[in-house]
Amino acid sequence: TRNPVNVTVTGAAGQIGYSLLFRIAAGDLLGPDIPVKLRLLEIPQAVKAAEGVAMELDDCAFPLLAGIDIFDNPGDGFAGANVALLVGARPRTAGMERGDLLSANGGIFKPQGEAINAGAADDVRVLVVGNPANTNALIAASHAPDVPKSRFTAMTRLDHNRAVAQIAKKSGAPVTEIGNVTIWGNHSATQYPDLYNARISGKNAAEYINDQAWLENSFIPTVAKRGAAIIEARGSSSAASAASAALDHVFTWFHGTAEGDWTSMGIVSDGSYGVPEGLVSSFPVTTRDGNFEIVQGLEINEFSRARIDASVKELADERDAVRELGLI
Ligand code: NAI
Repeated sequence: TRNPVNVTVTGAAGQIGYSLLFRIAAGDLLGPDIPVKLRLLEIPQAVKAAEGVAMELDDCAFPLLAGIDIFDNPGDGFAGANVALLVGARPRTAGMERGDLLSANGGIFKPQGEAINAGAADDVRVLVVGNPANTNALIAASHAPDVPKSRFTAMTRLDHNRAVAQIAKKSGAPVTEIGNVTIWGNHSATQYPDLYNARISGKNAAEYINDQAWLENSFIPTVAKRGAAIIEARGSSSAASAASAALDHVFTWFHGTAEGDWTSMGIVSDGSYGVPEGLVSSFPVTTRDGNFEIVQGLEINEFSRARIDASVKELADERDAVRELGLI
């Protein structure tokens, strides 16, 4: 049997953690034949709650779960990590300005980036889920100079999956027939879900659906504001769907996108599609064996261009703000 893969999960006692950890232990992160060792990282006040989650994980007697350790500091939490899921973050609370939010999260993601740099395994792959995910990933990556930038990613797979679901609903096609969906830009309300390059049973999705009013007034806002709609309905933010998307993100990263298809990931831009180099932006990517490539040569019409630019502008503003705060 294979050696266990070390998976560090931050925010392990939180609500995404509670949906995520059991599925990781069941094999949904890396595949059904790869044992995992969980390294749970929490703040000291939440360690006891994380211990409770660990007790429940034990009680599932998962065949693939090779061990659970709990840590209250990033240095120990990321030691030897092959996969790092950065879920814990400081949420925006009432009256908090954007600068306060960025600086509170900088206080989390800077030391975590440093700890990954110092002690993670050479093959570490990082997914940032905690918001603002793109900019938190930028902060972490910028404090891990010895780790290739391509190892740091931010999660837009939930947005991607939401877009797939909306397209399936509108067209009546099953989700398995929906492909080539792209989320561009920031994981925020400015994100741009691209229908023009998407496909339904191999046919162009925008032409197939042929309803510009739906695209503009329903599809885009529904996908972009889904997080708020879940909070409104459920009374707390998306957790099981966010956990499911995190599993999809990592699974796809390792196991690859299907021939002819792609997925969406927040990654450090190389300048493709006019997104300034260095920003962590969502792109269409193909993946294979833990590597990815941006899909090149897609047609970006005027409608798409304006929306991508607006989201990228927001990312540049966030980068400038964290730079001003000395966080990168
Ligand atoms: P939660 O508040 O239930 O749990 C967060 C956990 O993180 C808490 O247990 C807290 O103690 C822990 N934590 C805080 N600072 C930490 C640190 N420095 N190190 C380790 N752990 C720390 O929040 P929930 O619902 O689990 O969401 C987590 C994050 O994921 C939030 O920032 C949320 O906005 C984000 N999110 C991102 C999505 C995406 O699509 N990218 C989708 C949904 C949520």
